[in-house]
Amino acid sequence: MEWTREQRYRSLEKVSQKELSELKAEVDRCQWRQSFHIQPETGLLNDPNGFSFYNGEYHLFYQWFPLGPVHGLKYWYHMKSKDLATWENVGTGIKPDQFFDSHGAYSGSGIEHDDKLYLFYTGNTRDENWVRHPYQCMAWMNKEGVITKANRPIIDHVPEGYTDHFRDPKVWENNDSFYAIIGAQRENKTGAVIVYRSHNLEEWHLLGEVVTQLENFGYMWECPDYFDLDGQGVLMFSPQGLEPSGDAFQNIYQSGYVVGNALELPALNYTHGAFTELDHGFDFYAPQTMEDPAGRRFMVGWMGLPEIAYPTDQSGWAHCLTVPRELTIQNGKLLQTPVKEMAKKRKDHREINDMINSQMKTYHDFEGATYELYCAFDLITAKEVGIVLRCSELEETIIKYDAGNQKVVFDRSNSGEKFAEEYGEIRQCHLSAEKVKFHIFVDRSSVEVFINDGEVAMTARIFPDHESKGIRFFSIDGKSRLEAVKWKY
Ligand code: FRU
Repeated sequence: MEWTREQRYRSLEKVSQKELSELKAEVDRCQWRQSFHIQPETGLLNDPNGFSFYNGEYHLFYQWFPLGPVHGLKYWYHMKSKDLATWENVGTGIKPDQFFDSHGAYSGSGIEHDDKLYLFYTGNTRDENWVRHPYQCMAWMNKEGVITKANRPIIDHVPEGYTDHFRDPKVWENNDSFYAIIGAQRENKTGAVIVYRSHNLEEWHLLGEVVTQLENFGYMWECPDYFDLDGQGVLMFSPQGLEPSGDAFQNIYQSGYVVGNALELPALNYTHGAFTELDHGFDFYAPQTMEDPAGRRFMVGWMGLPEIAYPTDQSGWAHCLTVPRELTIQNGKLLQTPVKEMAKKRKDHREINDMINSQMKTYHDFEGATYELYCAFDLITAKEVGIVLRCSELEETIIKYDAGNQKVVFDRSNSGEKFAEEYGEIRQCHLSAEKVKFHIFVDRSSVEVFINDGEVAMTARIFPDHESKGIRFFSIDGKSRLEAVKWKY
């Protein structure tokens, strides 16, 4: 179905209960509804927003177009959680209902201050000629969960030298000042990030562009994030317009980070290393981080990409968020592991200890469509080891380590209903190891893999038949010791 502009910019408030419940019923019939991931009740979810801890709970909002699987008039939808593992739907958080956000409450962040949770977002507006005018806006949530918008934008124009692609403020506090980092496009059509400073969250002053060594690196940087971790400065962003290069940059758009010395504030000088992709799978974009009261750094990503049709579109919804990941830093690289709180979801534990020798093996009662699987292969003489999951006679998803080429490989070419094939059906990434440990989260239509304690992460949506539940383990050309543990979710 083609969506007209009127349909995409219709506000939720104008839609009848009947129409909404019909859409909900259609969504609920979809076999690919997730069981433990954050997903929209109806319509399209994209970026995580306002990820924070406030008043004893984690808060996480997401970009939401309620009326169908397309990018239309965006709302912030509000979720909360006591433990990062189980989330509660709260309802609409920010509605696009003012002159400064009339065409969408776009992405942004949250920070606690003065007993309130302050929310910063981009008000997207379009004029009569459909020209974009972005505003940076503020709202706050009180302890009762009531959200109030400031009656005027906090930044009401794009600074000189940049185009109207200017959005996604992420705010943090440093030495009694607040800083906002914002994604931007220079007039010469290259991506950059810009920083503003404030003493009270209300008045903001432009500091300028972060001076990176990535002068000409794509045409737009979306959803920036900056934080200090273990004394180092991490700049994360989602650049658009990078060409594929070897195994890297295979998706339509990327998201990644650089690590360097802590960003010099307010001077904005920054020396850093190479840009590294955060996730080496297929469906990961626009991540956002937060620091919890214990000082842990968590990240959630959108398990999807812009401008790609997904099989659930036919059922009136699209996308989900990733499981929250904890970030640590080792030798200048970020390690990503699923938050340990996820263990609360574990049920029905099953274990395997075996030696597999040039063979493919299945184990009794070791299968499923929603589970956590941890498995370690000791490569004794094997050239390749791996797991086949969500499999049947007809379908399979393969995750393996190819020791000869020193690569981890994710193959979804036969996973089920096909989509985004023009971007390739295999992803791979360098890894050098004698022992390979896969930590895997499987839901009805997704797989998240963390390899060797978070050295590599690979995320993918897959759309298998709900009966494709098999799990097989294999070793090729030699022996491998296998230890595996699986928990139902
Ligand atoms: C990234 C993005 C952001 C924007 C939002 C709109 O996916 O394009 O830059 O704020 O989505 O939904």
